[in-house]
Amino acid sequence: MPSDSKSILITGGAGFIGSHVVRLFVNTYPNYKIVNLDKLTYAGNLENLRDIENKTNYTFVKGDIVNGEFVHELFNIHKFTGVIHLAAESHVDRSISNPLEFVTTNIIGTVNLLNAAKQLWQPTLNTANKSPYRFYHISTDEVYGALGASGFFTEKTKYDPHSPYSASKASSDHLVRAYADTYGLPVIITNCSNNYGPYHFPEKLIPLALNNIKNNKNIPVYGKGENIRDWLFVEDHARAINLVFHKGKSGETYNIGGHNEWKNIDLIRLLCKLMDAKLNRPAGTSEKLITFVTDRAGHDLRYAIDASKIKNELGWVPSVSFEEGLEKTVDWFLENEKWLKNITSGNYKNYYEKQYANR
Ligand code: NAD
Ligand code: DAU
Repeated sequence: MPSDSKSILITGGAGFIGSHVVRLFVNTYPNYKIVNLDKLTYAGNLENLRDIENKTNYTFVKGDIVNGEFVHELFNIHKFTGVIHLAAESHVDRSISNPLEFVTTNIIGTVNLLNAAKQLWQPTLNTANKSPYRFYHISTDEVYGALGASGFFTEKTKYDPHSPYSASKASSDHLVRAYADTYGLPVIITNCSNNYGPYHFPEKLIPLALNNIKNNKNIPVYGKGENIRDWLFVEDHARAINLVFHKGKSGETYNIGGHNEWKNIDLIRLLCKLMDAKLNRPAGTSEKLITFVTDRAGHDLRYAIDASKIKNELGWVPSVSFEEGLEKTVDWFLENEKWLKNITSGNYKNYYEKQYANR
């Protein structure tokens, strides 16, 4: 991507992965103007970005991607040359109880961003590969459906989403490609496996388990805990996003994954062991908290990514081993008790008013 592309919109930057991407871009590119657009839903937490919030190349905008007029206006003000789109409803269980919210944010919100980019860029678009613009959609491996005991998702795997969440992400992926085919919009998509690490919202498996173990609460394991996920340290995902945004080929899709498959129950047992050691509890204490509960409806058995395309074409491989990543994550959650407490008490929702309302 040409170096004059300096006005970058990152959506969903107050969320888990988005905050790592914003931090990386703000710290790495002092000459870029980075605008973080986030609605601050329950999942958005500006405390995640406390360390960079006063940087001169960073602007936070509270707003909803579902509001098309607002999105158009923002594009006209900032004349974005690049978009990294992470804003989404992201939790599968919530999509089962409230699918419409997922359709609205993940599909309509994405189309609003595509329309705004099209309106701003189309007059000066040339051939896709030479274009100074880039619309980058951050997507998930869940669009490919579920694997059996063997095999991997490649970029050519047929889409077969099962949850309202993954169906909404699949739909937004298709729309992103449709804007490339129909209007020549320079787009790029990556589909990534399960992330873990600091700032992970404690509704997701790993932070939920760590929080519950610390507080001696039951750890709910869906079904028999036999489902398999491929875990990647979130900073490795952010590095991949930086690489793809700058060096990825327009129109392409890249899969991103950790080659790091874990059965849920084995992962939970490992977390129990690590936490027992960190908290000086006798070995085996935390495992007693494991509670098997009713399975998630339509629970995909196994996800596993073949990440050879991004490795061969762009040279990306994960740099953090699972052992190292989990150690960092466990330490971070133990050292950042206040961050976690502010979420469980709901205090984190006041941060915007306190820090931003009078700016
Ligand atoms: P998250 O739920 O932690 O964060 C989502 C962010 O989007 C929040 O800050 C939220 O306030 C914001 N948001 C939601 N609706 C919005 C709206 N209407 N307008 C503006 N902002 C809105 O999610 P995450 O886990 O960081 O995931 C980020 C992206 O990466 C998502 O698109 C998700 O599908 C994708 N993804 C996540 C994973 C994972 O393991 N977490 C893996 C692959 C892909
Ligand atoms: O694969 C990428 C996806 O990973 C992302 O697209 C999603 O945004 C992200 O939320 C994540 O989805 P999962 O459903 O895999 O993540 P979650 O942490 O919710 O669950 C991981 C596994 O653990 C899954 O098999 C369900 C199981 N689980 C989850 C929770 C919250 C439990 O057994 N107990 C729980 O309490």
